[in-house]
Amino acid sequence: MNNGTMRAEQYRGYFDLQLRFAAKLCTVRGEDMSYGIETYTNLHRRFGFGVPRRPGVEVNARWLSFLDKINSYTHHAQRLDWAVAFFAEQCIESLPRENSFGCFGFMPPDDSGMVRIHFHNRDSDGGIGPLHHTKVGRRKLELARMWAYIREQFPAAKVVRGTSWLYHLDAYCRLFPATYTSSKVLVTHRLRFNGSSSWGQFLDHRGELKLPLAELFTDAIEKWDGHAPWLLFPYPALRTFAPLSCFTEGNSNEQLQP
Ligand SMILES: CC(C)(COP(=O)(O)OP(=O)(O)OC[C@H]1O[C@@H](n2cnc3c(N)ncnc32)[C@H](O)[C@@H]1OP(=O)(O)O)[C@@H](O)C(=O)NCCC(=O)NCCS
Repeated sequence: MNNGTMRAEQYRGYFDLQLRFAAKLCTVRGEDMSYGIETYTNLHRRFGFGVPRRPGVEVNARWLSFLDKINSYTHHAQRLDWAVAFFAEQCIESLPRENSFGCFGFMPPDDSGMVRIHFHNRDSDGGIGPLHHTKVGRRKLELARMWAYIREQFPAAKVVRGTSWLYHLDAYCRLFPATYTSSKVLVTHRLRFNGSSSWGQFLDHRGELKLPLAELFTDAIEKWDGHAPWLLFPYPALRTFAPLSCFTEGNSNEQLQP
């Protein structure tokens, strides 16, 4: 097995969950599978094509060929085999590099001055995961550098927003001021699941599927009554919100201490 095939096989279970979820939503909502895959799975990003349907960016021809074939299949097993085979050949798994500070990253402020932050595992030091308690100091330093950079480069930035399953974990929340994490609310009525804010919970830091969570989710999909699909996830995405000043004033010393 070459590297691409091994990596793709590692993700088989992860793709399986996503394709099942998309198929169920499409059936219930009367949508076609290509729409469902772009909207309800993160395959577009996972395959290295970036954020789907960005205004002004032409849809990638290889992605369209992937969708064409998916649409020609009626069975889950065929779709899954095709997704795994496509990923093995594509084998580009790109994490966004722009505006990254270690495991953290951000999107520059929008018109209202809101900065969105995200988290990816970029540690390459073997066995210990990025949220392990021994790495709290490292993560806090990355954040402190990121806040300082945002303040310097984007004077229009006013507030910080996060949307992620990670706000369920103390191991993640302990990296931020309490004002920010205590603002968390459940994200409802959102019918886009094309990033990692919900899907990331099914992978561990080695990229392996977290089986108990995956089984819970598969079971929930099968029993789903058609309402509130975001609640099918064991850790539904939470949204947080706080002024940028709460990360950069007063808390800065706390943030820098390992
Ligand atoms: C985030 C991610 C690295 C977590 O991987 P992991 O193998 O579960 O966790 P780590 O080894 O990094 O962290 C371990 C810490 O998290 C805690 N933790 C992890 N999963 C937990 C869970 N489901 N419930 C409670 N605590 C949990 C552990 O208790 C441990 O804390 P401790 O050291 O204080 O005991 C992994 O899920 C991932 O890479 N996901 C994809 C990226 C993602 O989801 N990004 C969000 C985009 S918005």
